[in-house]
Amino acid sequence: MLQDSFGRVHDYLRISLTDHCNFRCTYCMPQEEMEWMPQSKLMSKEEILTLAETFVGLGVKKIRLTGGEPLVRKEFPEILERLAAFPVELTLTTNGVLIHKHIEVLKKAGVRSVNVSLDTLNREKFLKLTRRDQFDRVWENMLLLLREGFRVKVNAVALHGLIEEEICDFVAMTERLPIHMRFIEFMPFAGNHWQSKKVVTAAQMLDLVKEKYEIVKLEDKKHDTAKKYKVPGFEGTFAFITTMSENFCAGCNRIRLTADGKIKNCLFGKEELDLLIALRRGENVEEIIRLSISRKHKALGGQFDPDYLKANPEAIENRSMIKIGG
Ligand code: GTP
Ligand code: 5AD
Ligand code: SF4
Repeated sequence: MLQDSFGRVHDYLRISLTDHCNFRCTYCMPQEEMEWMPQSKLMSKEEILTLAETFVGLGVKKIRLTGGEPLVRKEFPEILERLAAFPVELTLTTNGVLIHKHIEVLKKAGVRSVNVSLDTLNREKFLKLTRRDQFDRVWENMLLLLREGFRVKVNAVALHGLIEEEICDFVAMTERLPIHMRFIEFMPFAGNHWQSKKVVTAAQMLDLVKEKYEIVKLEDKKHDTAKKYKVPGFEGTFAFITTMSENFCAGCNRIRLTADGKIKNCLFGKEELDLLIALRRGENVEEIIRLSISRKHKALGGQFDPDYLKANPEAIENRSMIKIGG
């Protein structure tokens, strides 16, 4: 069991398979000096499986594959199939553009739930944001996932100027589609030009939704990142991921393994320990994992004030989102 000094048990591992992505979202990827990780620094397929097995031995019960974009990793099908042999819930977060190529392997591996990122319902805005003209493909793939019986959560980063216009359209989408919309407060990462004034809070978004809809609060579970709501009678739900206005660190059960094999205690953690080098040297990886977890900070990686208006992005030392995987 991986317990930190605050009594939180960590049983949910997020593995980043690659820092590459086939989109170019500005809030995720720094425009300046983006260098891809060299192949030799990335975990190989076998190394991923060995490290995952070690984590499972330490009590991990859920594994989420992330990126960059996890589906651009060539060995994705094989990695997924082999991870499926472990006694874990397997899932992934994807931009959705390659889902149609992998739908059978997802089903075969027993994946039940997929999180798809989609920040706008407008084709032109989609192109501007991702620099790829792939809105139709992502939309079709989201519908494909639903048809094939997957539980689909849709992540939309609440971008100031965009979300205010579209939030009610996203909620309207849950009338006929059984999707779970999640609006994510904009978070600071290296190179994404975060400023507190760019954050649209859950409270502000909720006000906009309430102008149009009667809503009810749904029950949230202990480890949930999202605060859930529903319009009565609608098929789907919507929720807010409130890292900035009301963090949920007290219920944190998450650990991250980056594509270059570093364990990251927290999305905002600056301290990383190198599991890949240790594995390659034949050292005791389990001990390093325990050491890492024992050093986990209480909230927000110990890097900024829970009052986001006081957060200074210049003082935060971290990777860019594309190199963490969310
Ligand atoms: P579920 O397992 O479906 O609850 O997914 P999730 O919300 O953990 O994962 P997803 O990859 O869909 O992430 C959605 C958003 O939540 C992203 O912006 C993540 O960065 C953010 N997120 C995920 N885990 C954490 C976390 O531990 N802390 C914080 N602050 N944000 C997180
Ligand atoms: N703030 C909030 N969410 C972000 N994501 C990427 N960058 C940010 C950010 N700066 C989201 C992606 C994806 C998830 C893993 O994280 O849209 O859905
Ligand atoms: Fe856990 Fe860090 Fe996220 Fe808080 S910010 S919930 S401690 S990963």
